[in-house]
Amino acid sequence: MSNDPLLQPYQLKHLTLRNRIIVTAHEPAYPEDGMPKERYRAYTVERAKGGVAMTMTAGSAAVSKDSPPVFNNLLAYKDEIVPWIREMTDAVHEEGAAIMIQLTHLGRRTRWDKGEWLPVVAPSHHREASHRAFPKKIEDWDIERIIKDFADAAERMKAGGMDGVELEAYGHLLDQFASPLTNELDGPYGGSLDNRMRFCFDVLKAIRARVGDDFILGVRYTADECLPGGTGKEEGLEISKRLKESGLIDYLNVIRGHIDTDAGLTDVIPIQGMANSPHLDFAGEIRAATNFPTFHAAKIPDVATARHAIASGKVDMVGMTRAHMTDPHIVRKIIEKREDDIRPCVGANYCLDRIYQGGAAYCIHNAATGRELTMPHTIAKADRRKKVVIVGAGPAGLEAARVAAERGHEVVVFEAANDPGGQIRLTAQSERRREMISIIDWRMSQCEKLGVTFHFNSWAEADTVQAENPDVVIIATGGLPHTEVLSKGNELVVSSWDIISGDVKPGTNVLIFDDAGDHAGLQAAEFIAKAGGKVEIMTPDRSFAPEVMAMNLVPYMRSLQKLDVTFTVTYRLEAVEKSGNELVAHVGSDYGGIAKQRTFDQIVINHGTIPLDDLYFELKPASSNLGEVSHDQLIAGRPQTAWRNADGKFQLFRIGDAVAARNTHAAIYDALRLVKDI
Ligand SMILES: Cc1cc2nc3c(=O)[nH]c(=O)nc-3n(C[C@H](O)[C@H](O)[C@H](O)COP(=O)(O)O)c2cc1C
Ligand code: SF4
Repeated sequence: MSNDPLLQPYQLKHLTLRNRIIVTAHEPAYPEDGMPKERYRAYTVERAKGGVAMTMTAGSAAVSKDSPPVFNNLLAYKDEIVPWIREMTDAVHEEGAAIMIQLTHLGRRTRWDKGEWLPVVAPSHHREASHRAFPKKIEDWDIERIIKDFADAAERMKAGGMDGVELEAYGHLLDQFASPLTNELDGPYGGSLDNRMRFCFDVLKAIRARVGDDFILGVRYTADECLPGGTGKEEGLEISKRLKESGLIDYLNVIRGHIDTDAGLTDVIPIQGMANSPHLDFAGEIRAATNFPTFHAAKIPDVATARHAIASGKVDMVGMTRAHMTDPHIVRKIIEKREDDIRPCVGANYCLDRIYQGGAAYCIHNAATGRELTMPHTIAKADRRKKVVIVGAGPAGLEAARVAAERGHEVVVFEAANDPGGQIRLTAQSERRREMISIIDWRMSQCEKLGVTFHFNSWAEADTVQAENPDVVIIATGGLPHTEVLSKGNELVVSSWDIISGDVKPGTNVLIFDDAGDHAGLQAAEFIAKAGGKVEIMTPDRSFAPEVMAMNLVPYMRSLQKLDVTFTVTYRLEAVEKSGNELVAHVGSDYGGIAKQRTFDQIVINHGTIPLDDLYFELKPASSNLGEVSHDQLIAGRPQTAWRNADGKFQLFRIGDAVAARNTHAAIYDALRLVKDI
């Protein structure tokens, strides 16, 4: 047996966990009609197959109708969920993993205009900044009802074959009672710590009475809100001890921080550029003080840090949640001594940010996650070995190369630059976004192992490509910044890429006109402001940087506000003129009736990219499919069979930004879903 601390079994009451790695509660927003149907099951089972000890399915499954599904949560208050849960638990158990579910009442952390349009309840009228609903102050009959709802939901989960349930008590109703900041009740449920904790213990007692002892019950709670006037560390320790001493629960799952604002949430679940494992020592302190089974997750993205978390005795079970969205087979790869093959989580937080925008969770660089029913995590070999030539070694080209090589094809990649990476190399210029380069490094190391041939510094012409006698050609040449957006003066502006790459020196008084609203605009602003320039970001949109979602925006704002960058929304840069050494910006508005002139010494445009597609169009007449992609075949996961030119010698495809400006995930998904069937 291995002596790897991560691979040691753990006895949690009657439940033997096969190793020390868990996936903590997370709602990937895959439910259909509030139920965990095939897609949800396939996603969950993939992690069980990959070897994880326990998967905490769902995040925040709702126990009551007035806890509406604000990010497409499971509806644990419906009886019809039981058979769906049963199918999932049976399938996970068959793979040797344990499975639990997190239950919650969101309290004020939701919206009244979701679900059944019931008023939101909380122990005070204070609204949560993130979700904006003004709550009704909870009444005695609400409290009784919700306690019963928790017990009913737990019973449904037991009937569905779950190994246990976990209660969510950070930012949700349970800790809205516990925190002095959000509890303004009098009497039995407000005031002293005893009273503020009463609701939590009433819920735990009701659940325990219903599910009996042979069912795991845990609480995921904040043991330090890190907010003035909130639950501090001392009280958090006291809460931890009381939870243990209650005899009602089997483990503690420690959180530090608060999630009522985007900034708070991002400190609880740090993203790229923020420190790894920031709350691990704190979790260790709770474990030392309570001597009770302790779980914890918060940016422990790599095996070495996870191993340290266990070996140092700070926690009993270590959560690697986003890491498993990036690579569901972490444990299997540890066992097979293939840690180098683990696809690294780069903390891009595309997964989590999307659910808060009403989308499903997708991993920025694993397009199979959440698409297990159609996209493979492990690529099958092709029946016939083909020669595949790929032009471009950005994320799309490298994913195409990796997948084609996994299929067993002979793969040749041409790249004009010295190094692989394309736009990601540019992104990684920002210190905070350096982790993004792992998207490229991982693919390069996989491609090298698989024998892909790379030609860097090679500007591929049509002849170069055809000289390879390819069966398939994939154009992944990306795009170039698109700055031609003005009625006059396009030659006077620079692009956000010019700034980020260092090709153009930052100005001192700079306007960034950003109607792409993505990372590049903010990155350019940060570069300029850090170099000492005064920066104004202007957008015609209602809000700035709409493509940079909630948690990703946090580190930018922490930096840009200190650098005094200003934001002007709803104005459009229309033209630029030169006046001496200055640039005159002519500013209008889509709402009409506005014509202003402003003076700057540098004007930067961030307007996405325009495809670099010359080679594609040169090759198109010589190809057998004339570049056609059958969308039906692509979506159904069948090989492309378009045949439009009898003289054509090769199939030709175009992916990523060489087609149209999109994002890294779209580029990688383009590549995976096309090439897995080549
Ligand atoms: C898509 C997504 C949804 C999440 N939803 C929940 C949730 O409902 N409840 C919860 O306690 N944690 C939730 N989390 C937080 C995770 O359980 C975990 O604490 C967090 O991702 C940090 O751990 P990691 O760095 O290993 O990913 C969610 C995380 C993700 C990525
Ligand atoms: S999107 Fe980013 S943070 Fe989320 S799982 Fe993928 S790599 Fe990790």
